[in-house]
Amino acid sequence: MIITVTLNAAIDKSLSVPSFRLGRRHRTVEQTTMAGGKGVNVARTLKTLGQPVIATGFQGGPTGTRIVEQLTEESILNDFVRIREESRTNTAVYDPTNGVMTEINERGPAVSAKEVELFRDKLLYLARGADIVVLAGSLPRGMDGDVYAGLVRELRRMDVLVMVDTDGEPLRHAVRAEPDLISPNVLEAEELVGHEFNDDEDKVIAVREMVQLGAREAIMTAPDGCVAALQKDGERQLLRVKVEPRDAVATVGSGDAFLAGYVSARYTGSSPDECLRFGVACGAESTRRLGAGLIEPREVERLLPEVEVERITAPAEVS
Ligand SMILES: Nc1ncnc2c1ncn2[C@@H]1O[C@H](COP(=O)(O)OP(=O)(O)OP(=O)(O)O)[C@@H](O)[C@H]1O
Ligand SMILES: [Mg+2]
Repeated sequence: MIITVTLNAAIDKSLSVPSFRLGRRHRTVEQTTMAGGKGVNVARTLKTLGQPVIATGFQGGPTGTRIVEQLTEESILNDFVRIREESRTNTAVYDPTNGVMTEINERGPAVSAKEVELFRDKLLYLARGADIVVLAGSLPRGMDGDVYAGLVRELRRMDVLVMVDTDGEPLRHAVRAEPDLISPNVLEAEELVGHEFNDDEDKVIAVREMVQLGAREAIMTAPDGCVAALQKDGERQLLRVKVEPRDAVATVGSGDAFLAGYVSARYTGSSPDECLRFGVACGAESTRRLGAGLIEPREVERLLPEVEVERITAPAEVS
């Protein structure tokens, strides 16, 4: 079983508005509403890939009720802690005439110490039957930046693999708690290691630095694939994965689809190369669809041969 954690779950509303202009009144030509938040998106992709998954986190108010209803409609198993404040709605406006996406994300609810405690108990209970736990996304207002770090430490003691996909302060704390994997994008990784990357070699050095900070394994995603420091039979492997960047319909959530693909392959015991190849194919496929976490598995299979995986050795083997 795989558990995904979404502490700041949302209703994601996507509007398609041709020739969208500031200050004008518009009519949408297409509108979709889905449960969202990074962990929820990862759960959606995992469900589509046929893997057993339970989504957990916080939900509150009428929007929270809606999140649970929508997940249930999609047959995504879920078990959220109900909170007093209302879950957020995120709005994305897509202009099909120029492909530009504008996003407006609400701040979201505050969560009390009691609610955090209830969640912790629930997660540790669910994790007893889990092989992998994915902690993904931002934290609700007022939550301590080290909450993921604390959860990582407790989960690691239970012999589950813990993967963290977040940024900023929560990631900085979490990485020190030695999660099994972190998967930031380039910007998030630059912030974590504290310097910019100018070329491919910098990116390779960066994933090694992320491992030195505490992560057992680190993957840095980019629109053209990823760079990873993974383990195989106790040995560190550095890998670079390339895919031809596609004409994207919507790149929002491609990192979530990547992570779900990686986790899915890992869950079924694939090799590090195959896990990365599958993750990148899922990420690339998801960019063709409006709606985070949506993929078509047959298209993913078709893309697999186009994904190149390369082992990297010296000269990047420094430090
Ligand atoms: N335009 C694109 N064409 C092909 N593949 C893409 C494109 N954009 C993203 N991907 C794939 O998706 C994966 C994740 O991309 P990226 O690093 O942009 O995610 P992200 O910034 O974490 O996204 P989010 O957090 O919104 O889900 C990459 O590894 C890549 O394989
Ligand atoms: Mg991401």
